[in-house]
Amino acid sequence: MKDCRKAVIAGNWKMNKTPAETTALINEMKPLVADAKCDVVLCVPFIDIAAAVEAAKDSNIKIGAENVHFKESGAFTGEISAKMLVEAGVEYVVVGHSERRQYFGETDQTVNLRTLAAIKEGLTAIVCVGETLEQRELGYTETLLKYQTKMALTNVAKEDLDKIIIAYEPVWAIGTGVTATADQADEGNGFVREAIAEVYGKEVAETVTIQYGGSMNAKNADELVAKENVDGGLIGGASLKAEDFSIIVKAASK
Ligand code: 13P
Repeated sequence: MKDCRKAVIAGNWKMNKTPAETTALINEMKPLVADAKCDVVLCVPFIDIAAAVEAAKDSNIKIGAENVHFKESGAFTGEISAKMLVEAGVEYVVVGHSERRQYFGETDQTVNLRTLAAIKEGLTAIVCVGETLEQRELGYTETLLKYQTKMALTNVAKEDLDKIIIAYEPVWAIGTGVTATADQADEGNGFVREAIAEVYGKEVAETVTIQYGGSMNAKNADELVAKENVDGGLIGGASLKAEDFSIIVKAASK
């Protein structure tokens, strides 16, 4: 983590917690992260957003969603627009998570459209990229991360990069308990930064927050965020436990 960048620790709750459980967990977290020196975000299921925004009121916790549709409105049963999220008090949104790419037909094109829709309404998009184990073993990690990053940012203006966070999440490290080593995380994040530099120039690429995600927890967070290119984390399982999440926030606050 370099001083010229904002460290952001974001929880991704995935399909966990009811609205009542949301209120309870955020109330438990609030005092534990109150003195954070990094940005603290919780990305929650759509149905939990109202409870989360209410519980996080008057705290340093910002609320995010886990997906956004790319159209402003229309006949898209079951979808949620960026405008709806903003009005509900959401400030961040996860876009292109590998679980959505894997199970819900998300493509590099739709990731790009969702990213554009999100930032147009003033949301910060947390755009996820990452290679599978097979792609890594074939030696495609750099090519793939750069391709996914550039595709996701197609038509994103340079002056809008401050509304973009990229999360490097190796698919093989998600929910598996297998964390990338700190060097692998730094290298992956470095490839993402290089891709941004190739399109927008080195100077602005240095300012973009690039998170690591994949089995990041209270024990390994210190080592990961100490790396130059790791500007925080996108946390799954460990963000469902107040104590563990707060330890990760503290690691990024140093
Ligand atoms: P885990 O931290 O549970 O591995 O999940 C990471 C992730 O997918 C965050 O988006």
